[in-house]
Amino acid sequence: MAPTSLPLNLNFKITATATKLPELPENIRNSRVLVLGGTGRVGGSTATALSNLCPDLRIVVAGRNREKGEALVAKLGGNSGFARVDIDDINSLETALKGVDLVVHAAGPFQQAEKCSVLEAAINTKTAYIDVCDDTTYACRAKSLMSRALAANVPAITTAGIYPGVSSVMAAELVRAAESESEDKPERLRFYYYTAGTGGAGPTILATSFLLLGEEVVAYNKGEKIKLKPYSGMLNVDFGKGIGRRNVYLLNLPEVRSAHEILGVPTVSARFGTSPFFWNWGMEAMTKLLPSEYLRDRSKVQRLVELFDPVVRATDGFAGERVSMRVDLERSSGRNTVGIFSHKSLSVSVGISTAAFALAVLEGSTQPGVWFPEETQGLPIEAREVLLNRASQGTINFAMNRSPWMIETNPKELGLGIYV
Ligand SMILES: NC(=O)c1ccc[n+]([C@@H]2O[C@H](COP(=O)([O-])OP(=O)(O)OC[C@H]3O[C@@H](n4cnc5c(N)ncnc54)[C@H](OP(=O)(O)O)[C@@H]3O)[C@@H](O)[C@H]2O)c1
Repeated sequence: MAPTSLPLNLNFKITATATKLPELPENIRNSRVLVLGGTGRVGGSTATALSNLCPDLRIVVAGRNREKGEALVAKLGGNSGFARVDIDDINSLETALKGVDLVVHAAGPFQQAEKCSVLEAAINTKTAYIDVCDDTTYACRAKSLMSRALAANVPAITTAGIYPGVSSVMAAELVRAAESESEDKPERLRFYYYTAGTGGAGPTILATSFLLLGEEVVAYNKGEKIKLKPYSGMLNVDFGKGIGRRNVYLLNLPEVRSAHEILGVPTVSARFGTSPFFWNWGMEAMTKLLPSEYLRDRSKVQRLVELFDPVVRATDGFAGERVSMRVDLERSSGRNTVGIFSHKSLSVSVGISTAAFALAVLEGSTQPGVWFPEETQGLPIEAREVLLNRASQGTINFAMNRSPWMIETNPKELGLGIYV
């Protein structure tokens, strides 16, 4: 299958309905996609987005909870079904993958997971694979299966959600635009993320956040790897239209390492912030009060989640679930560029973003092997614009390669004096 080839416009600006998406060929429209964690928010949203983008797809919603799975299947309609799968049971996994063209793994948390059982099963059954992993150790372990994926001729992309995922592709495009101008080099890349409340995501995302607070933050400063305290280094960042200024804090996220190593940017960091503001204070307090070993223990964190989940759901009711990603690139020429992506709902846009990666793999864009979204073997340059077009459907603000003042509500105060 040839990747969709469109002329690439480095300054493209895409709004909710402006761009006509390419029609999918019949063999892709009839593909069978299994969505693991399909009974959860991210997986369920991915299944819904796939069904909206391509109603003929045969979607298998997979998870342990039949009742939730069948409720979603009833909404998706005729071409979908449910499969009971436990990712810790390799037999049930491999049985479910028979006859499947692509598996989407959204059954997190990925933090502190012992192995990449879904990717291994995908390789054993010769099934194409993507995941919405947001953990550095897990993503590196997935990459270590490269030779097995190559030998089995299986294409796989790890960290293929919204952030990391779409944000990684935005970074790759900012860097490519900078490098296309002679004498200009990318110097510093910063990922800024904001999500209101949990963004309507499931309890697993709460566990993910707590587990991340137990990890030292890896960042890069002028080519050197440095380790920083989690939820430190606060910056007040302008996310522009529909979001405004928000406080964001350092977190250990896999796109920092992949952007540094693959895109060759010497200084890279990632920051995240939430609202209402007291959740940021709560996260900061947790890193100060709880030992990091406690925050890295999945069973202890699960108990914390059970304690906090009802309160978080209650505040989600008024916090909303807006999401915004701002990717900033500083260049040697002094001409800095920004990509911005904002949506009213994380739980909707994470599904659309993941579905965009799923369609790219089904279209044959991805070579055999295990790739990050920034790698051209995972997503060739010609496929990036199609992916960003699909992923940005329904956004309230999406623009690439802009000067910071073009997207900011108050451009003067941006993050001065902070190093990474
Ligand atoms: N990269 C990104 O952009 C991005 C963004 C947001 C979230 N995420 C990640 O996405 C993951 C899912 O988040 P969420 O909000 O969707 O969580 P969620 O609503 O709690 O859903 C998690 C799902 O995983 C399933 N699951 C858990 N353990 C399983 C197992 N052993 N076997 C089979 N299924 C299992 C659960 O299914 P059952 O209940 O049926 O067992 C549940 O439906 C998290 O790890 C989160 O960090 C990534």
